[in-house]
Amino acid sequence: MLGMCVGIDFGSTSTIMYVGGKGIVLDEPTMIAVDTETGTPVAIGNTAYTINGRTDDAIRVISPVQNGIISDYTHAEHILRYYFQRLCGNSIFKPNVILTVPSGATNLDKRTFLDVAMHAGAGRVCLVEESLASAIGAGLDEDTFSGRFIVNLGGGSVDISVVTRGSLAVSKSVKVGGKSIDEAIQKYLRKKRDILVGPQTAERLKICLGSAVPRKEEIAVMANGKSGLDNMPMSFEVTSTELFHCIDEQISYIIGGIKSVLEITPPELVGDISENGIVLTGGTSLLYGMKKRLESETGIEIIMADDPLYSCVSGAAAIVKDMDFLTANGYRFKTVQELS
Ligand SMILES: Nc1ncnc2c1ncn2[C@@H]1O[C@H](COP(=O)(O)OP(=O)(O)OP(=O)(O)O)[C@@H](O)[C@H]1O
Ligand SMILES: [Mg+2]
Repeated sequence: MLGMCVGIDFGSTSTIMYVGGKGIVLDEPTMIAVDTETGTPVAIGNTAYTINGRTDDAIRVISPVQNGIISDYTHAEHILRYYFQRLCGNSIFKPNVILTVPSGATNLDKRTFLDVAMHAGAGRVCLVEESLASAIGAGLDEDTFSGRFIVNLGGGSVDISVVTRGSLAVSKSVKVGGKSIDEAIQKYLRKKRDILVGPQTAERLKICLGSAVPRKEEIAVMANGKSGLDNMPMSFEVTSTELFHCIDEQISYIIGGIKSVLEITPPELVGDISENGIVLTGGTSLLYGMKKRLESETGIEIIMADDPLYSCVSGAAAIVKDMDFLTANGYRFKTVQELS
């Protein structure tokens, strides 16, 4: 196949790219900063993330992938085009792309992913479900007939699937994730303590203090924000107990999603899952106590992927290395001509 092969996890929080023969070449926030008046992009990725919450109205920071799917076509295309140009330079060959998509994506969502990648400069694109990619990335044998339950806890969505014999038997995407947990923290501080914090502070608090089960010993950290009373800067203390309670509703949504998929899974596969356990991937699986909470709620052993943030792109990478997987499982590359 002419041109480089790229595996891409174009996630709600981060964009990760793997290039055949090189390894992971990019891991940056899925964000773009644009000039509000002209619409011209001023920063993409890490720089846009740093700008977020720190600018006046002249610059707007946009996350064009929301809840796992592309919600802003133009800006998603800008981001991918920028990265493709960075990767391919002046090469005359366009990249062949394995792009992961949420398992619950509709045909329209999938079409948007294809369109955006092609118009951003991909030569050919093949879409693979996140859960399947994560299963392969987490090291599960795709040939097995035995059912595997994969939960990808991402930034914008939770992807829950039962994978058997290289395809999805049951799947569902739930619109909660790391970002909605961050928003719950911002909302709690605003409503209960009259303190305003930006998205990055909320994310830091979640990572340092947040938990899915109460911590054995309460911990507290100091953070900076703005008083809602007089809009003046202030330092304040937050405890792990406060955060546990304020994010519990989000954790319950995740558990509800997992249970609803178990309910509709055929009994034979549920038997396999009880034996094989549930594999947890995605950045939000790193939340303190997530494994313990899910084990106690489902009664099934939880297996953490070795590198949860990279499971999905690792699966895409494994496919790049062994393209036969695609044909063996009915996946196909599409070209721009096939789109119209
Ligand atoms: N140690 C940690 N504790 C809690 N959350 C974490 C930790 N590390 C990363 N996260 C969260 O993981 C999320 C990113 O996960 P991931 O990269 O899997 O999402 P994504 O692929 O971009 O999103 P999606 O798959 O939903 O489109 C962020 O919300 C981040 O705050
Ligand atoms: Mg993801």
